[in-house]
Amino acid sequence: MRILHGTSELFPYSKTGGLADMVDGLAKATAKLGHQVGVVTPLYRGIREQTPALQLLDSRLELSMGMLSVSARVWTHQPRPNLTIYFIDQPEFFDRASLYMHNGSDYLDNAARFIFLSKCVAHLARHLPWQPEVVHVHDWQTALAPLLVRHQRDHDGRATPPRTVLTIHNVAFQGVFPPQDFGLVNVPWSYFTVDGAEYYGRLSCLKAGIVFADAIITVSPRYAREIMQPELGCGLDGVLRRRADVLTGILNGVDYEEWKTTGNPRLPHAYSATRLLGKNLHKHALQKEYGLPPRSDVPLFGTVSRLTDQKGIDIELGALEEMLSAPMQFVLLGSGSSHFVQAFTDLARRHPDKMGVRFGFNEDLSHRIEAGLDFFVMPSRFEPCGLNQMYSLRYGTIPIVRATGGLDDSVTDITEDMGQANGIKFTEYSSRALAKAMRKALALYAQPPLLCHYRGNGMNADFSWDRTCLEYLRVYERKLA
Ligand code: ADP
Ligand code: GLC
Repeated sequence: MRILHGTSELFPYSKTGGLADMVDGLAKATAKLGHQVGVVTPLYRGIREQTPALQLLDSRLELSMGMLSVSARVWTHQPRPNLTIYFIDQPEFFDRASLYMHNGSDYLDNAARFIFLSKCVAHLARHLPWQPEVVHVHDWQTALAPLLVRHQRDHDGRATPPRTVLTIHNVAFQGVFPPQDFGLVNVPWSYFTVDGAEYYGRLSCLKAGIVFADAIITVSPRYAREIMQPELGCGLDGVLRRRADVLTGILNGVDYEEWKTTGNPRLPHAYSATRLLGKNLHKHALQKEYGLPPRSDVPLFGTVSRLTDQKGIDIELGALEEMLSAPMQFVLLGSGSSHFVQAFTDLARRHPDKMGVRFGFNEDLSHRIEAGLDFFVMPSRFEPCGLNQMYSLRYGTIPIVRATGGLDDSVTDITEDMGQANGIKFTEYSSRALAKAMRKALALYAQPPLLCHYRGNGMNADFSWDRTCLEYLRVYERKLA
């Protein structure tokens, strides 16, 4: 099959969250099976310097944006056989300090930036010599591409356009802009209706994707059910219910070439389910790095996360207030809201022997944390899939998760099936419920053989992309049949 992805983030070139890992993992796994795969993504600042072997594509893109014409060069890179990355080089849009925002506010021209990216995806889908059969876009930033492909068929003389697939990684981000921004799309206003890209008088990029894509996938089966309900549908539950026949949930995979406990350049000490000494060394190194006493007799809890309301940071702070009097330690790596940064900083200042915090985005440190922790805390208010709980499992760290979305689909509680149990789950969204789950973790830590059993279950669980990508391929096949 010939598949072209469109995405605003791609690991290892650009990343603010799990989207980057997911597209990389899926693209690599499908290419490995022999399918031809392309990924269209922006050439953000710094990528050129880190990716020396870029090749310039012959033709320059020249695309209408409302009354203007915007051009871009396209650089290609082939990190492995059958996989080509198409980097969109449009410095005014993409050569910036960060991907989406500056000083906590979205860039004012995000509509133009990502309408342009969606146009690049649809244009390349039409003009690349290898003629992609499937255009697979991710989240609102490329969600206008299915509309543009539909337009190629209905008004622009393209008899057999590719099939379009939209993966929704988070329905809370919809790309909603003033109606006049629809003018930048350069398609008739007949697409801007309640059955199209219009949402309460405004342009909704995600809604356009939901309406016009041939198939819609979200990143876990439970989240697929949740977003069709008002509570987590973020206003799009009705639109999603209307497309229930083409909506499925497929749990994301994990790239075990990146997340492995042996032969991993990011992890100085190798370990496995049966030889856990290396994990202990990571724990001590991490305690040292965070200025905590290097103790083996107390469990080390931690979190790596965007610091936003989605991630349940408010109940985590409340639970820590209560739990830090118990024999435990906690480390944080996070970036996001200054309000949460301040709250974690204050808490750590009050408990210097028990808690350490680091802010910013640090991929290497995130691996060392996953390896060094005993328990990973992920109390999300909602979680489409979540990758950190699956990274934790592979690294022998017991995840403590709230039973929502992909967290519920990927973690088995220690009170369930003993042969599979690998984590601690709680349901109520409250500090009290999380603190109770953390107390269960303390009790488990006092029973090393049991702890070891659950760790082993986690480390042996298989969330590899090799398996998951077959589910995506089945969706493509059904649409092409
Ligand atoms: P989301 O995409 O909603 O943030 P996921 O769990 O799917 O949540 O993915 C988050 C990804 O981003 C993981 O790979 C995680 O390790 C990484 N990550 C989040 N915050 C940081 C950080 N401050 N430093 C390094 N990596 C981070
Ligand atoms: C989004 C979701 C997260 C998911 C990731 C990758 O960022 O918040 O739950 O794991 O996308 O699909």
